[in-house]
Amino acid sequence: MKETKIISKSLEDTYNVAKLFLSNLKPKSLPRGGALRGSQAAVVLLEGDLGGGKTTFTQALARELGVKNYLTSPTFVLMKSYKISPEVTERLRLSVKNLIHIDAYRLNSGADLLNLGWAELVANPAHLIVLEWPEKVADLFDGLEHKIKFKFIDEQKREIIL
Ligand SMILES: Nc1ncnc2c1ncn2[C@@H]1O[C@H](COP(=O)(O)OP(=O)(O)OP(=O)(O)O)[C@@H](O)[C@H]1O
Ligand SMILES: [Mg+2]
Repeated sequence: MKETKIISKSLEDTYNVAKLFLSNLKPKSLPRGGALRGSQAAVVLLEGDLGGGKTTFTQALARELGVKNYLTSPTFVLMKSYKISPEVTERLRLSVKNLIHIDAYRLNSGADLLNLGWAELVANPAHLIVLEWPEKVADLFDGLEHKIKFKFIDEQKREIIL
């Protein structure tokens, strides 16, 4: 995928970037797997600054995917799974059925994520996994996963590289 650099000047802009990302998401356009052989889930890594808008972006994704019971931040839950409504799956022609939101901020290495059942999560082709703070579990990835970068510019502005 070609890199696109966007300056978001508001929450709404960031929401629109998530919409754009989703509209470009074709059934098999995201790299499957990566470092773990045989893995099947679509994995999107959200990296970058604290307060950069990673959770905001995920919230927008959830909204666009028709998720009803979105939880603001999984920081204390670490991992949350949401059902993507079948109408949305159909409309967007996506092959995924669940949005899995993971916040790895409080983890120390890939081993921590493996202990939380990562291998099983990533082996499921029905999963769209969005992971914040891949920097904390970098040893699990091989650089082939789809990455979105968030940079804090000032109070209102964020740079998002898709
Ligand atoms: N243009 C913008 N895009 C996104 N968030 C913005 C923007 N301008 C201001 N904000 C504010 O910045 C904060 C972004 O927080 P958010 O939790 O989404 O970031 P994060 O990258 O998930 O942070 P963390 O690293 O703590 O997980 C929110 O309080 C939001 O209201
Ligand atoms: Mg966050």
